[in-house]
Amino acid sequence: MKKPFRIAVLASGGGTNLQSIIDQQQCGRLPVDVTLVISNNPGAGALVRAQQAGINTLCINHRNYPNREDFDRELVNALQQADIDLIVLAGFMRILTPVMLQAFPQRIINIHPALLPAFPGLDVQQQAIDYGARFSGCTVHFVDAGVDTGPIIIQAVVPILPDDSAATLAERILEQEHRIYPQAIQWLAEGRVKIEGRNVLIANTSGDKTALVNPTN
Ligand code: GRF
Repeated sequence: MKKPFRIAVLASGGGTNLQSIIDQQQCGRLPVDVTLVISNNPGAGALVRAQQAGINTLCINHRNYPNREDFDRELVNALQQADIDLIVLAGFMRILTPVMLQAFPQRIINIHPALLPAFPGLDVQQQAIDYGARFSGCTVHFVDAGVDTGPIIIQAVVPILPDDSAATLAERILEQEHRIYPQAIQWLAEGRVKIEGRNVLIANTSGDKTALVNPTN
């Protein structure tokens, strides 16, 4: 039998992206084993969602470590022990150091609530509104040493409406996040993703399974 593709989800907050991954997995559309959920925040809703789904959880509180590298070493230990194939950052509010990046080259992905390379960093829904952009969206990308700079796997576009607040825009973007994150993970689990420089190639995409999700589909 084929070895299951084991993923770990790292989350600091409410965990709606985690939930979308769990839901897709449970209804048989995502061929992965959600092996482990790790949070740096003992109060993270993501931990509760994981426990409700019967997934192993671990809280590694960054406050208990003198520096980022020591925190990352603890993460690496846990992830290696669990024999994880792919690390999925879903609202994980810690910047990773080379300790993590070198332990899992090209095996860490992140979701960001803007159309990269526009608006990396934090509070990006408000930034997109303040800038006067007509569209924003979300991006799933590989994690590299920069902040939100790694090669892009899939993006979805979302319109910015005249009366949007950061909260209403965030909600509209989240709906798309919940579509594209499971999709990206599926492609990776199926071994269809190849990185060539900055470009990410997806083998055998066709029809509605393209890496561009536009506002009308
Ligand atoms: C999402 O908007 C994600 O793009 C960002 O953090 C948020 C996490 O939301 N990185 P949730 O915890 O998955 O609900």
